Amino acid sequence: MYRGFLLSLLVMLPFAAQADSVESMLQEMAIIEKNTALLGAALEDGQERASLCIHCHGEDGNSKRDYIPNLADQNASYLFTQFEHFADGTRKNYVMSKLAANLTKDERIAIALYFSRNEVKARPQPVASSEKGATVYNSVCFVCHGKEGKGSQQYPRIAGQPYDYLKATLMKFRNNDPERQNSPMMGVIRGMSEAQLSDVAAYVANMQ
Ligand code: HEC
Ligand code: HEC
Repeated sequence: MYRGFLLSLLVMLPFAAQADSVESMLQEMAIIEKNTALLGAALEDGQERASLCIHCHGEDGNSKRDYIPNLADQNASYLFTQFEHFADGTRKNYVMSKLAANLTKDERIAIALYFSRNEVKARPQPVASSEKGATVYNSVCFVCHGKEGKGSQQYPRIAGQPYDYLKATLMKFRNNDPERQNSPMMGVIRGMSEAQLSDVAAYVANMQ
């Protein structure tokens, strides 16, 4: 029902003829978000597809494993863009790259919308927050990720992600790891020490 509905909407849109660029898909997602009926159908579809994900990312998008990110309350355009990155090889992870390549565009949109609407739950973190971490955060990171780490349409939410995932991801950015190519984060943290990255990861993990 969702796909038929979507198709009839798209036929009426001026940019329907364009190729499936990330931009046009994000535009499509924005249109769905503004239309109650389309959004309802997409969320239903997304919930169904999410059964492929819950083993790792948790029932409601709150990951139960320390090396796996939460998807809950992540902004939908970031979630969608990461699928594109996994599918085109800009970002690499054995499972995610395969999964992303096998989901249709409509499924990627529906899943992104679904998880973005779940709530992040506080989780026990292996490290406590510190003043040092707060200092790094409030001098650099808040500019893009926001005072509370909740991100925006352009920037991911990072607050409350598992510490291990944050630390490992920051180290990938610092080491120019090909698993996360072309990220603006590489320029941002160039020159930071591993200790500073551990401190800021602990601070971010404990943000609510
Ligand atoms: C076998 C475990 C596994 C399954 C199943 C899985 N994921 Fe993942 N996912 C991961 C891991 C591990 C990462 C982190 C990869 C990395 O470190 O870059 C990840 C990362 C992601 C990211 C990037 C999040 C971020 O914060 O950058 C998204 C989005 C995502 N997964 C969505 C999904 C969706 C949607 C599904 C179901 C269709 C799914 N995943 C199924 C393990 C899994
Ligand atoms: C100039 C803007 C900017 C600043 C400043 C910035 N970030 Fe980012 N950050 C981004 C963007 C854009 C992304 C998403 C793109 C990507 O995946 O590489 C991102 C991604 C991330 C991610 C990966 C999120 C995920 O779910 O995988 C983490 C962790 C992160 N930033 C932490 C930080 C920390 C900690 C700081 C401060 C030291 C910081 N960022 C400063 C723009 C910024």
